[in-house]
Amino acid sequence: MEKLEQLYEGKAKKVFRTDDPDVYLVDYKDDATAGNGAKKGTIRGKGVINNRVTNHLMRMLEEKGIPTHYVKELSERETLVKRVTIVPLEVIVRNVAAGSLSKRLGLPEGTKLKSTVLEYCYKDDALGDPMVNEYHIAAIGAATPEELKTIADYSMKINEILTEYLKDVGIELIDFKLEFGRDKDGKIILADEISPDTCRFWDVKTHAHLDKDLFRRDLGGEEEAYKEVMKRLLGE
Ligand code: TMP
Repeated sequence: MEKLEQLYEGKAKKVFRTDDPDVYLVDYKDDATAGNGAKKGTIRGKGVINNRVTNHLMRMLEEKGIPTHYVKELSERETLVKRVTIVPLEVIVRNVAAGSLSKRLGLPEGTKLKSTVLEYCYKDDALGDPMVNEYHIAAIGAATPEELKTIADYSMKINEILTEYLKDVGIELIDFKLEFGRDKDGKIILADEISPDTCRFWDVKTHAHLDKDLFRRDLGGEEEAYKEVMKRLLGE
């Protein structure tokens, strides 16, 4: 497979065309941003870890019946994925109150939620990714009601699978963000990444942050924390 021209550069990844029109190549960077680009920095080794952790989790989810864009890991930072048109939504799944939910509802971080919360944000940097509900999503045509049902069902199932899987390596899955795309047949599949950039991972025993909150909140130790997640998941 040949790496052709760059199509897109995002905050954490670059996307390249390949000689197969249905396959793109993703290249993970060490660049880190927070607050919709307000804070910029680098987390050394992050690109390698996010690439490998994402692929590991996507392979595991595929085995358990979730369709994903994953095709093949090419190198430490590069992965082949199916070409999709991204559904312009960030799907946030929450098990425990933290971050923006804690602020909005006045719930102390760490409060166990009585049931799982699903939130949607409309992906638009200029608007600051505003939260939307299913009515907005249908009204602006971001996804059809049928697509959104599939997205919600997959998101809940992914939460069950990931929560169990991570518990075994001493990680509590507090919340996370998913993105979905439509493949060439219009089928909804999981896309983007699942990594310490896009999830809140707390150590089960100590409740230490093992995720990007260390960077967002200037707590420090993010390089070690990302390495720890990779070690627990991949054994290296
Ligand atoms: P929040 O508490 O800031 O709304 O974040 C909820 C979860 O979603 C958290 O695990 C971080 C993740 N997230 C992203 O990956 N990208 C984003 O743009 C946002 C807002 C959250």
